[in-house]
Formats: sequence, C-alpha cells, structure tokens
Amino acid sequence: MYYQKLDEFPQDFLWGAASAAYQIEGAFDEAGKGRSIWDTYAHTPGNTYQGTTGDVAVDHYHHMEEDVALMGKMGLKAYRFSVAWSRVIPDGEGAVNEAGLDFYRRLIKALRANHVEPVLTLYHWDLPQALQDKYQGWESRETIAAFKKYCQVLFAAFKDDVKYWVTFNEQNVFTSMGYRWGTHPPKVMDIKRMYAANHIINLANAEAINLFHEMVPNGLIGPSFGYGPVYPLTGDPNDVLASVNADDFNNNWWLDVYCRGEYPFFMMKQLQRMGIAPVVTAADEQLLKSAKPDFLGVNYYHGGTVQTNRLQKPVATDQQAKDFSATDPYLMQPKADQAQSPEIPAFNSVASPYLAKTEWGWEIDPVGFRVALRQVYEKYRLPIFVTENGLGAVDQLVNGQIDDQYRIDYLQAHLLAMKEAITDGVAMIGYCAWSYTDLLSWLNGYRKRYGFVYIDRDDNGPKELKRIPKASYYWYQQIIAENGQQI
Ligand code: NOJ
Repeated sequence: MYYQKLDEFPQDFLWGAASAAYQIEGAFDEAGKGRSIWDTYAHTPGNTYQGTTGDVAVDHYHHMEEDVALMGKMGLKAYRFSVAWSRVIPDGEGAVNEAGLDFYRRLIKALRANHVEPVLTLYHWDLPQALQDKYQGWESRETIAAFKKYCQVLFAAFKDDVKYWVTFNEQNVFTSMGYRWGTHPPKVMDIKRMYAANHIINLANAEAINLFHEMVPNGLIGPSFGYGPVYPLTGDPNDVLASVNADDFNNNWWLDVYCRGEYPFFMMKQLQRMGIAPVVTAADEQLLKSAKPDFLGVNYYHGGTVQTNRLQKPVATDQQAKDFSATDPYLMQPKADQAQSPEIPAFNSVASPYLAKTEWGWEIDPVGFRVALRQVYEKYRLPIFVTENGLGAVDQLVNGQIDDQYRIDYLQAHLLAMKEAITDGVAMIGYCAWSYTDLLSWLNGYRKRYGFVYIDRDDNGPKELKRIPKASYYWYQQIIAENGQQI
C-alpha cells in the first residue's frame, strides 16, 4: 500500500520519551534503597563494559526537577520511566521505604505540573537482590507473591495520578540474556531454566494485570515487548519454514501468552519433546487466560533474517552467534554448545543483505517498523503504545552543541513508517523514543548514547553531569508542536 496522503496523527497522540531506573537514577544506596541484581552484577569485575555501573548513572535522582523542566520546555506529552523495586521495598517483599516512594511521588507531581503524562514501568530488570538470594528470583513462585505486593503498593499510591502502566519491560530480552546467554544477571546459561523463569514471569504479569483492573479501573496496563519481524533470507520454502520457527521462538512464545493467554501450540510441543518445556498447571492456564492487557507496548529496534539449518548451507559462525548474543539482544540465534541442556534446531540468524547497520551493528529498518506494527495489530487487535525506538550512537560535543542529524534522520524515517501504519489502520496510543536523556547502556557503558538530552559524563565517571539539549531535542519539540504534520 502506498498513499498519496497520509492520515494525521490522532489529536491526543502521546509523543513521549523513555528511560529506566537503573540506567539513569544513580543514588544506588541512598535514602534506604536496597540492592538490586544489577547492583551486584555490575559491581562484579568482568561483567560489564569497562566495569561501568549505574551507581551514579546520570544522577537523575538528584537532577529530577531539572530533567522534568526540560521535558516541559520540549513540550513532551508523555514520559516513560521505571520504578526501582528495591528503592520502594528494599528487600523486595517487606516494609515499604517511604523515602523511596516519595521520590516517585515527587517525579509524578513534577511531570503533571509540566503537562507530561507519566507512563510507569513496574519492572525494568532490577529485581531486588534479596529475592534472588532468598528464592532464586524468577525461578520461584514466591517471587510472584512479592511482585504482587510491590504492585499493590504502587497501584494504591499512584492510582489517581498515573493512567498508563507497563508491567514487564522486554521479558524476551532480560530472560534470554539472564538465563540463556549469561550476559545479564543472574548469569545462568540453561535453556530449560530460561523457559521455567519465563513461565513464572508470565504468571506474575497476569497477577499484576488482574490486580490492576480491580484497583485502578480507570487506568490502562500492558507489557512492553521487544518485537522484531522475522524475514526468510530467500524464498526457498526451507528458509520460509525457518522464519516461521523463528517467529514462534522470538515473538509468539511471549506475545501469545500476553494477549491470548496460551503458549503457541507447535513450539510448546517441540519444547515438550525436548524435555525443556515449563510446567503449566490447570490453575496456571486459568490465570493466564483471565488476564487481558489493555494495550500492547512495543519496543522496536530491528527485526531479524533467518535461514534454514536443515540443508548444507553456509550458516552464521559460532563467532557471529556469539557476537549477536553479546551485542544484540534481539537476535536469538540457537547455539548447540551453549548450555548443557538441549538446543532448538529450528533456524539460523544471518545478517540481512538489504540493511545498513548502526555503529553497534544493529540493522536500521524503518520499513520493518511498519511491518511490526501491522503484524502485531493484525494478530492481537490491541491498541499499541510504542514504548521504545531509537538510535544508539557516539555523539560529539562541539562548541557546546551536539549536531545529531543522524539521529534525526533515523527517527524521522521511523515516524514516517509509523504514520503509514496509522494510515493502514493500526490503532496507536503513542510513541516513546528511547531515550530522553543519555543513560547507561547495560552492556556498552556510557559511550553509546540514545538521548535527546546530552549528559557530559563518560565511562570513567561523572564530570559535571551538565544537561545539554541536542539538535534532535529541538527537532522533536517541533514535531510535537505540529503533531507530526511535517512527517
Ligand atoms: C531496550 C531496553 O529496554 C533498554 O533498557 C535498552 O537500553 C534499550 N533497549 C537499548 O538497548
């Protein structure tokens, strides 16, 4: 479909930007905050890029008013942030730390004063360490009860002030990295344990949604998923079959549960044959079926190209597969020697011959964004909130300014694809660019920048932490003011 004229963005479209607690807040042990698994992981030598941590991050904890004032000036309509569970409940399940809760209360108040809609993510990867120690974190059902309690505290505190809530951020990424590749905490490499943990998290997601609908009847809640369309490398039916497998493996495994309350049939069967499927009780099935998200959060960076591994064809080398896993969380290349547990011989990930890449080797694929929005909307028919999309790059501060035209070009192309998807008929609530300020990249330190607002710090530590709006900040300000008309 090509259009002479595109539809306008809805009048109440939420033009936003996003962040996550561990990546921006700093103050990792201040005002009663407990440790999270990311504090422990980043403090352990050898785990992160040049030993970078979120101890100070970009010190949003102490610059919150200034950061929000800049959002107001920009005209930002929505700001997506996450709450650090261990700031609010230091040991994950016990007493509430009022000082921690108060930080978010002040943030939400400041956002409202600046006419910015808060979008609150409950879980962006920083599980309280105490729950990992006591229960083995997401491998135990005890953690579901703790999560429910934490949700209850936040729903009660903010039900009148926050309308949009995200349950889990990129469950596909943090479980793959944490339990399969061992590049995030808890640094496990066992695919069976990965699927078991996913099931526990799915139950926690369902519990949170049901509790929310009881406690916050006027709010909207959904998970944020890291979605990428899957392309077959060629029209060879064997490659097409590989892409069907990869779509189950990368996308449907999670989305079908979120949106339909059941695991995809063929993949579940395959996992059962291999003895690595999660144990799902009748009560679990009922719970998963009962919880309906109000929207689907989509984080889009790029898709993936696959080819068959059933024929004698050149495939991604082990080194490539390793590089994918180290730098690119969205390509879930199966790898035979990774864990002691069996692997899934279903497809091989390969580079697309059609797409350019970012400095970090991520494919740049705005058309894939439209494909993604269409696929997800066609399948699940839930309103979509794009909760992340953006470009990681090395930005240069020249004469006190940052001319990030490459980021503007990237975002412009993606906004155009989104406008086309809206014209196609996809129902959309809003779009949050990743990220608002520069922030800590989990595995790439501070050099990889995503923000509209530059922060002068590097991998060696903070400088003045001065906030400097980039060229993209002023560009987005204009887009928002015109409601995307010139896109
Ligand atoms: C998705 C994650 O949610 C976010 O935390 C991360 O920094 C971005 N992708 C970029 O890698």
